Amino acid sequence: MPPIAAPIAILSALAEEQAGLLQHMQGARDVVLAGRTVWCGSLWGQPVVLALSRIGKVAAATTATALIAHLGVGKVVFTGVAGGVGDGVQVGDVVVGTSYLQHDMDASPLFPRYEIPLYGRAVFAGDDGMCGALQAACNAALVRHRDRAPAVHRGLIASGDRFVNGATEVAALVGRLKAAGHTPLAVEMEGAAVAQVCADYGVPFAAVRTISDRADDTAHMDFSTFVQDVASVYAQRIVENLLKTLSK
Ligand code: ADE
Repeated sequence: MPPIAAPIAILSALAEEQAGLLQHMQGARDVVLAGRTVWCGSLWGQPVVLALSRIGKVAAATTATALIAHLGVGKVVFTGVAGGVGDGVQVGDVVVGTSYLQHDMDASPLFPRYEIPLYGRAVFAGDDGMCGALQAACNAALVRHRDRAPAVHRGLIASGDRFVNGATEVAALVGRLKAAGHTPLAVEMEGAAVAQVCADYGVPFAAVRTISDRADDTAHMDFSTFVQDVASVYAQRIVENLLKTLSK
């Protein structure tokens, strides 16, 4: 008998993104881990675990740790929304994270700004193969939004425990990161924490983020409407394409 493949964890930030996937899940059974309801089953031929990360770095790290340590997931994929901060990264575009950094990590002067103490680095890489598969899944999933064909970008995602919601704030944040040699495409609140947990356990990780806002003064308004109308649809299509590819 072939060995049973370790399940892929699909972590979603928002219940709207998980709902469509859960409807398609076969043999779904729920398990409670660390106070979180997690769904185990299969999707498009792949053993899968669906979980909500909750919001913020600690909640997301706890979720990822529980899935790896208790359910033995072999890969982690994160789907969510983000604020676009890179040049040309527009609302409706998608960013595949090839690297992750915590923009609110600052243990200077003991360690260089952004470096995770005792890891000797600020940036964690996304898994190459998963990033490539996610990019292909995105290319096949996106539809025109407000008369524009969305673009798929690949690059650095910056995470922090803050909803970035101001033009001055975002300019300062990006300016500081660039001065330290980091050019982020998007900001969100979980990815780099999950990347760090996955690196600790040696589990391949990649995240895909649909851009809901530009992290400026109207970010909170753009965010809510976008999540309802676009992000949940994209998340489902991207994950479906990804899992179908992995089944081939
Ligand atoms: N997620 C979506 N938009 C965001 C923003 N502007 N800041 C942080 N996280 C986000």
